[in-house]
This record gives sequence, C-alpha cells and structure tokens, in this order.
Amino acid sequence: MVKIETIKKIYGEIEIPGDKSITHRAFILSTISQGVSFIYNPNLGDDTNRTLEIMRAIGGEVNHEKNGIKIKGCGIKNIKEPENILDAGNSGTTIRLLSGLFSSIENKFFVLTGDDSLRKRPMKRVIEPIRLMGGEIFGRGNDNFPPVAIVGKKLRGIEYELSKPSAQVKSSIILATLNAIDKTIIKEKIKTRNHTEILLKEFGGKIEEKNNEIVVYPETNLKGIDVYIPGDFSSASYFIILALLLDNSEILLKNVSLNPTRIYLLNLLIKNGGDIKILNESIKNGERLGDILVKSSNIKRLKVNKEEVPLMIDELPLIGAVGAFFDEGVVVEGADELRVKESDRIKVLVENLRNLNVDVEELSDGFVVKKSKKIKNGLVKTSFDHRIALSFIVFGLISKKGLVLEEVDSIKISFPEFFNILRRISYV
Ligand code: S3P
Repeated sequence: MVKIETIKKIYGEIEIPGDKSITHRAFILSTISQGVSFIYNPNLGDDTNRTLEIMRAIGGEVNHEKNGIKIKGCGIKNIKEPENILDAGNSGTTIRLLSGLFSSIENKFFVLTGDDSLRKRPMKRVIEPIRLMGGEIFGRGNDNFPPVAIVGKKLRGIEYELSKPSAQVKSSIILATLNAIDKTIIKEKIKTRNHTEILLKEFGGKIEEKNNEIVVYPETNLKGIDVYIPGDFSSASYFIILALLLDNSEILLKNVSLNPTRIYLLNLLIKNGGDIKILNESIKNGERLGDILVKSSNIKRLKVNKEEVPLMIDELPLIGAVGAFFDEGVVVEGADELRVKESDRIKVLVENLRNLNVDVEELSDGFVVKKSKKIKNGLVKTSFDHRIALSFIVFGLISKKGLVLEEVDSIKISFPEFFNILRRISYV
C-alpha cells in the first residue's frame, strides 16, 4: 500500500526521460543495421529493457555507456536464432513489432511470451497480416494470444488495410517487409503514431507516406546511426496535468517529443483553456521536439472522439482519472482499444473512480466523467497497469483527500524516474 498525499503546487524546470515508443524502435533498428549506433537519452523502463535483452539474444552487441546505449548491429541477414524463448514481459510493443520482424528471418525459430497481462492481449491482429505475407506464425488459443511461435520464412509484400488503428500492427508489417521479396502497401483509415516510418528513413530504409497510405520497400542494408530520443510526451502529460490543475503552478518541460501523432492532448487542453506554450521547436532524427511551458489554468471540458483516440491513446486513462477536476468533466468515445491494453483500462478506471465517489458512467467504448464535489479518499487497485497507477497518483496529488494505491511498482514499466522528478518540483 502506498499513500499519496495532496501537494500545493509544482514549480520548476524538468527533463523528461526518453520516449518509450521511439526507444523500442531505435534498439530494434540498430540491431538489424550494419555498424554501430549510439542511442542518447533512451527510455530505461522495464518495457524497453525487454526489447534490449531480446536484441542481445539475437546477436546485437549492447553496451550501456555514460550518455546512453551503444549497439553494434548484426544486420538483418545475420540475426541469430535465440537459444531460449524470448520474454517480452509486459510489453505489447516488443511482442507485436518483433513477431513481424522474426517472421521474415528464414528458417529460424522464435518463441515470444510475456507476463500474465501480455498473455491476455490480442495477437491475431498481427498474425493475420503476417500469414498473408506467407508467414508461419502461431499463437495460443486459436492464434489469439501469446505465447507466439514462429518459423521464419521468405515473405512477400502485401497490400493491407489495417482493421484497427494500431501503430504496433503497422510497425510489425513494416519490419516484416524489410527482408521480404517485394514492397508492402499499408492503408490506415485513422492515423496512428509514425515513429517507425520516421526512424526507418534515418537508418536508410525506403518508405513513403502519402495521405493514408504507407509504402515500404525491402531493405537489408540499413546503416547504424546516432539517435537522440526526445522526452516522452506520455510521461510529460502527468506533469502537464499537475501544473494545470494545481494552483500557482508553473513548469517548463525541456526537450519533449512534439510528434503531431502523439500530442493531440496538448491541442485539446489549449482549446479548452490551458495556458500552454511551445518553445524552442526543432527536429532531430526526423522527430519534432521542443519545450513545453505550462501554467495553472481552468480546463473547461475535454471531449474525445474516435478519430482523435489513437493520437492520445496512452493519455486517456489520465484525463479520465482527473476529469472530475475539470469544470465540465470529460467524455471519451470510440476508444474500445482501451479494453485490450495492459488492463481493461475502461473497467479499471471506472471501478476506481466510483470507489473515490467520482460521478462516472461506463460506455462500451469509453467513459463520461463529471465534475465531482464529494470526492473521498479510497483504495485504488491498479491491475499492475503503469498508466492506471500514474494517473491515480496524479489524482491523489491534486485531490484534497489524497488516496491509497495498492502498488506503485508498475510505474517502472514506462517511468521509473517519476517520483524523483516529482520530489524536485513539488511544494506541500
Ligand atoms: C505503441 C502504440 C500504441 C500505444 C502503446 C505503444 C507503439 O498501441 O498504446 O503504448 O509503441 O507503437 P497500439 O498501436 O496497439 O494502439
């Protein structure tokens, strides 16, 4: 049990650790490239570490250095057959991206598994397109769940429309195409994060993005590079919300990712009364980044629809958790994907909010949270989901009543540094 006490304000300047999604991709692309890559400011949470350990197991030479991680790639043609099953832990990105890549490595055998949560998460969305490419990939429970077993094949390119807006599925198909016979065309009706597309180009891959179509060409000759990882916007969002909702607060977040496919929450907050300024914008390794200055504000109401969901998918538990502190609450619709994340985030969010006496309605594909005046202290059960834990920590810091969390260990999945940063800038 961990008690979260309310704080008065946050004030100061902080650096947010590197983006989790970009870090996974940097580790993978460095390993399948020739030569040395250096990754500055990587995310060092448990999820990205799972990818890194798997990269070691397939032939990447990984060294932790003072300023980041050095990887000497083995090249896609020299990927080693791992000696044991590969454990992706809690990480959906690891298992989905690597299922695609490994399916394209001829005659080698791979088994990917994960923790109790990951073994309940859907895999058919990846297995289906990979099979169309000629892949031999199987999952537990009629291909629905991990563990996943793969015998690599020479794959062919496909034309494929994503049935769900998922960057993980899109990236899995992109990686599967690099060692395939011919190009793949992916259509996405709703835009999702495009870090794989951006970073692949930096490593020398050939990929074109036009409107809602992505064309990726086989390329086995990627070259190692230096990658600078910008701060993780999803991690930054916890401090952005704290600064907005606590009185007399002001926070400058330095070098945060401003990739437009990730920061839709900022647009919504600004539109609804948030005093937020973006400063010092630049581009590194094709990714936009900059500083975000946030001051205390009254937020009117946030309403999120289906098209907007993928552009702020990981921030939805947070805005749900703190919706009761906005003038007119929060409405999220079209977000059924939340039910198949690290936990059923709609159910877990709603149950915990009810327990804290927040006025909340559960929808099949989202939730409605109303401004609530009679919030009480209570126990939050996280389902060991890092974003649920972080979101309710923020709730507890804002709520005059504080709260008790069953555990906060899960935050090590994406943001182990959270409490250290908070300590430096919070006033009680
Ligand atoms: C991720 C994509 C998103 C996101 C996840 C990380 C990625 O999942 O929720 O935390 O790195 O590609 P989906 O693309 O499956 O929605």
